Amino acid sequence: MSDVVMEGRDLKRYYEGSRKLFKPATSVRALNGVSFKLERGKTLAVVGESGCGKSTLARLATMIETPSEGELTIGGKPALVGDASLRSRVQIVFQNPYGSLNPRQKVGAILEEPLKINTQLSAAERRAKVEEMMKRVGLRPEHYGRYPHMFSGGQRQRIAIARALMLNPDILVLDEPVSALDLSIQAQVLNLLMDLQEEMGLAYLFISHGLSVVKHISDDVMVMYLGRPVEEGAADQVFAHPRHPYTAALLSATPVADPGREKTRISLTGELPSPLKPPSGCPFHPRCWRATDVCKAEMPPLTGDAGHRFACHHPLD
Ligand SMILES: Nc1ncnc2c1ncn2[C@@H]1O[C@H](COP(=O)(O)OP(=O)(O)OP(=O)(O)O)[C@@H](O)[C@H]1O
Ligand SMILES: [Mg+2]
Repeated sequence: MSDVVMEGRDLKRYYEGSRKLFKPATSVRALNGVSFKLERGKTLAVVGESGCGKSTLARLATMIETPSEGELTIGGKPALVGDASLRSRVQIVFQNPYGSLNPRQKVGAILEEPLKINTQLSAAERRAKVEEMMKRVGLRPEHYGRYPHMFSGGQRQRIAIARALMLNPDILVLDEPVSALDLSIQAQVLNLLMDLQEEMGLAYLFISHGLSVVKHISDDVMVMYLGRPVEEGAADQVFAHPRHPYTAALLSATPVADPGREKTRISLTGELPSPLKPPSGCPFHPRCWRATDVCKAEMPPLTGDAGHRFACHHPLD
C-alpha cells in the first residue's frame, strides 16, 4: 500500500505584477502545473535554478499561500490555508536559520514555543521534551540557555530542525537547508536529516538549486524549469540516465567524485529567461544545444513511464 502523505495536482501559482499606466497588467507564472506525490518516510527533491518556482512550491506545501489553480492534499485531505489540524503536520526549514530564529529568544524558549501554543503540556513536560529533542539533533544540554548568535551556521540549522520537529510532523519542507553552510557542515546536517527521517518516518520535500546536494538523500527527483517539471522520477534513474538536456547540464555542472569517469562538461549558456516573458514552445529551447524548429513551436508534454518522465522533443538516449 502506498502511503502518500502529500499530493499536488497540477498546482499553479500566479503573482500579479505592478499595473503601469498604458501597459497591460503583468502576471508571473511562478508555478505553472506541478504534480507530485510524497510518501511517508521518503524524500522528493525539487531541483532547479534560481527563480524556477521552488520556494513558491514550498509556500503552497506549507499552506502559507493558496494555489491559484490545482489541488493540494495532506494525508488525503484538501489543504486549506488556516486549517490548523493540517498546519502542524507540515513544517518548514529555511536556508538561513538566523533570519528565522528570534535573536532575543534563548534556544530553550525557541523550541518550547510550538508546544506552548499547540499543547496543554506543563512547563516541566515541555522542558523535558525540548531537552530530548536537543539531544536528538546533536545539541548539548548547556545550549538550552544560549542565544542563536552564539552558534555556528550548522548548529543554528540544527536548532531550526529541532523547532520544526517539536510538534511531531509527518512532513518537512526543507528550502535549501544546507546551501548557506560549508561543505563539511553540509554533510553533517544531511546525515542528521537522514537519521531523523529513519527514526521518525518523516517525509521530506527537499528543495535545492543543485543536484549534487540531493544525490544521497533523495528517493525521487523533480527537475524544474520556469515553473514546470522538465524531468522527474526515481532518483537513481534520473541521476544515472538523465533524458532532458537541462538535467544533463545541471548534472555536468556537478563535480564528479570518481576521477576515472569521463567528464563531458555541458555548460548552460545564456540567461534564464524571465518568467514574465517565457519563451515559446519548450521554455528551455533558447539555451538548448539540441533545439530544432519544433522546440520553438510546441511545448513538449511529459512522457515516459511512472518511474521516469521527461518533457523534451529530442531527449538524450
Ligand atoms: N510574491 C511575489 N510576487 C511577485 N513575484 C514573485 C513573488 N514570489 C515569487 N515571485 C516570482 O516567481 C518566480 C519564482 O520564485 P521562487 O522564489 O519560487 O523561485 P526559487 O526557485 O525559490 O528561486 P531561488 O533559487 O532564487 O530561491 C520568480 O520569478 C519570482 O520573481
Ligand atoms: Mg527559493
